[in-house]
Amino acid sequence: HHYVAIMAGGIGSRFWPMSRTAYPKQFLDILHTGKSLLQWTYERYASFIPNENIFIVTSEEYVPIVEKQLKSLPVENIVAEPSRKNTAACIAYISFKLIQKDPEASLIVAPSDHMILDNEAFRVVTVKALDFVSHIKSLVTLGITPTHPNTGYGYIQHDSMTVAEGIYKVKTFTEKPNLELAKTFISSGDFLWNAGIFVWQVKNVIKAFEQHQPEMFELFAGIKDSYNTTEEKAAIDRIYPLCTNISIDVAIMEKADNVYVIPSSFGWSDLGTWNSAYDNLEKDYLGNAVASDNVIVIDATKCMVSAPKEKLLVLQGLDDFIVVDSKDVLLICKKEKEQSIKEYVAEVKRNK
Ligand code: GDD
Ligand code: MG
Repeated sequence: HHYVAIMAGGIGSRFWPMSRTAYPKQFLDILHTGKSLLQWTYERYASFIPNENIFIVTSEEYVPIVEKQLKSLPVENIVAEPSRKNTAACIAYISFKLIQKDPEASLIVAPSDHMILDNEAFRVVTVKALDFVSHIKSLVTLGITPTHPNTGYGYIQHDSMTVAEGIYKVKTFTEKPNLELAKTFISSGDFLWNAGIFVWQVKNVIKAFEQHQPEMFELFAGIKDSYNTTEEKAAIDRIYPLCTNISIDVAIMEKADNVYVIPSSFGWSDLGTWNSAYDNLEKDYLGNAVASDNVIVIDATKCMVSAPKEKLLVLQGLDDFIVVDSKDVLLICKKEKEQSIKEYVAEVKRNK
């Protein structure tokens, strides 16, 4: 009864301009490792979840990319969304779909764009979570020891007593706090980052939708008895435009009172932004990380630099900058402004 749903429908806007709406970062090899982030993610689960139980949920337009990148995945396991409605809709869809196939399904919900260094430690934690959710009516998330007041993450505070080995009841869940609040959380020493990897029984997340997002619950209940049929597709096409655009973190995790966390360490990093890529790349002696072959850096420090291979990039004198060139866009941005890249992309789209 073990399943995984890999969410691969985001547009990775903080990784602009390398990540583009037409070909977002989960399909890219941001760190030059030989495989895309999605391919790494798939392989991580394929080592302990049966292939036919691995689902990729993504936008219709990305289905061909997924097929091409994951040749051994059955094509019917690629679940297509007609539009982008954020992670709550994505999770509601796969949950209401799976419950028809297997009412006892336990589901891991996974982002497609993270890096995990210790796959064995990851498997152990995940299997522990799968075991826990099969006994306790719970929503489990994995927690990471935070290092700095990052405003791109969810923050979790938990009880001090364990309920099972290494598992704690969550007291508060705060999605993407502002900087001031994030600083308070970090200095209290009492918070974990939400890794964005969830484990639960499908029937229990459906109950959580019923309780906290009754409108979405009603909408998605409309796909029942339609597993993999044209009726399913028709229902989904009808539901999506009516569906609120909301993340699972805000829709459910902040509200539910049966959330548990497993503090974990498996070399997690969210390749969510250029700074996280920077953290994961080798640096030269002045602290510059260069994710391309064709770059010359002179008297610059702590820069994150990426350029297409057919172009030479010469950079001098910058400190603490993100410099990313692509075929048609050049971005030069202070590292501390990385969370704003999303807004710059929106601005670019407005001005087009
Ligand atoms: N199918 C589908 N549809 N996938 C989506 C959609 C969608 O509409 N929107 C986002 N995704 C995918 C992304 O591709 C990514 O793999 C994953 O869902 C998470 O979405 P993000 O947009 O990257 O979320 P986030 O990074 O801002 O925040 C989440 O992750 C953090 C850790 O990385 C939250 O769970 C935070 O609480 C958490 O700390
Ligand atoms: Mg993310």
